[in-house]
Amino acid sequence: MSQPDVMDKLVSLCKRRGFIFQSSEIYGGTGSVWDYGPLGVELKKNIKDRWWHAMVRSRDDIEGLDAAILMHPRTWEASGHVAGFVDPLVDCKVCKGRFRADKLEDARCPQKPSKQPGQHEACQLTEARQFNLMFKTHMGALEESASIVYLRPETAQGIFVNFLNVQQSMRQKVPFGIAQIGKAFRNEITPGNFIFRTREFEQMEMQFFVEPGTDMEWFETWKALRMQWHLDLGLSPDRLQFHQHGASELAHYARAAFDVTFDFGGTLGFQEIEGVHNRSDFDLTQHQQFSSKKLEYFDQVNNKRYVPYVIETSVGADRVTLAALVNAYREEAVEGEAEGRVVLGLKPAIAPIKAAIFPLTKKDGQPEMANRILEDLRGAFTVDYDETGSIGKRYRRQDEVGTPFCVTVDGQSTTDNTVTVRDRDSLAQDRIDAGQLKGYLAAKLVG
Ligand code: GAP
Repeated sequence: MSQPDVMDKLVSLCKRRGFIFQSSEIYGGTGSVWDYGPLGVELKKNIKDRWWHAMVRSRDDIEGLDAAILMHPRTWEASGHVAGFVDPLVDCKVCKGRFRADKLEDARCPQKPSKQPGQHEACQLTEARQFNLMFKTHMGALEESASIVYLRPETAQGIFVNFLNVQQSMRQKVPFGIAQIGKAFRNEITPGNFIFRTREFEQMEMQFFVEPGTDMEWFETWKALRMQWHLDLGLSPDRLQFHQHGASELAHYARAAFDVTFDFGGTLGFQEIEGVHNRSDFDLTQHQQFSSKKLEYFDQVNNKRYVPYVIETSVGADRVTLAALVNAYREEAVEGEAEGRVVLGLKPAIAPIKAAIFPLTKKDGQPEMANRILEDLRGAFTVDYDETGSIGKRYRRQDEVGTPFCVTVDGQSTTDNTVTVRDRDSLAQDRIDAGQLKGYLAAKLVG
């Protein structure tokens, strides 16, 4: 199966099974904005929770933050986004298409898709002009007198402006970090590939403040830690690679940068899912200048003051969710059955539903026992109950959404209090005492 097929099949599966819907679909959809349905929100939340646990809860040297989306407009002058967060844009006067002038070779002429924009005789492309990717809105009651504010294009600036608030209130010493998860918005000219590049997305960012001179060592440390996190999420090692930014690729703030890239297959291939950047003292120095407030750290032990350097790790929650889905999707034959199965082989710990409980039949006390088990497990895990259709059909429904364990209550269960637990990947079935089910599942979900 080719990879474009996988993406098409995933888009369809995600809609059919309640993972991801097009935003405002009944009105024809909003361009490159997506809504997470009941299973999608669980999957993305599990990924975000893992990140939060790895970055904040399991470390003494990183604090959490939840800064507002709307920030003082001077923030974006200081950060360089007002002047520099631009892409060159061309319009076609004939078809009204909009394209990135520097990426024309990747685009298709809407009227003649075998050609790139500008190559079809009817095309009339305008001169390239700089297009700022920030969404603008107004703060205040009257549009004319109100000040312009921006929807943040990255969460990082909320961290920089709170550097001293967090350091002083939590009595942190450099080196330490601040982490947050939140929405970011970019008016991308060429969004697409499902939730890969969207106009509203979520970032999980961490800024690690270090003493100048120690920055490249910390940069290497964070590169390695972040790659390991993606491996621990279950992404295949052969689909993960680093990409080092050359001089021409480096963002205006970056001294060094590596992307963690994931192989989405097909025409997308390896693409960035996370950036690890050495931002030097660029941001804090800029905010000092624009706010006229000192953003220095005082090292009491060595009696010196300095503006710390920053190592940033920045990962898209939606992009990692897509990587996890692409990585997990498989179609396979089932021995002895005419129809194969679709499986989302997600790491059990991030699966939206951890266990599905089935009574084999709707009588003989089996539904009652299955419901008692459901209620017992509910507090600890996300669980589902299904009594409709053949047991084979019920297994298939759970395989397709990545449920790692299916628990069946059968005739034997009501006499000896045992149930069968079927493993999604090996298809092996264990018969265990229902009283031990919670511990059995908990052990399998570790990691
Ligand atoms: N603060 C640094 C920063 O924002 P970036 O490389 O522009 O760096 C970091 O973005 C991550 O955010 C990317 O690796 C990607 O996962 C995610 N991201 C960026 N733009 C996105 C978009 N339009 N849609 C979805 N995710 C996006």
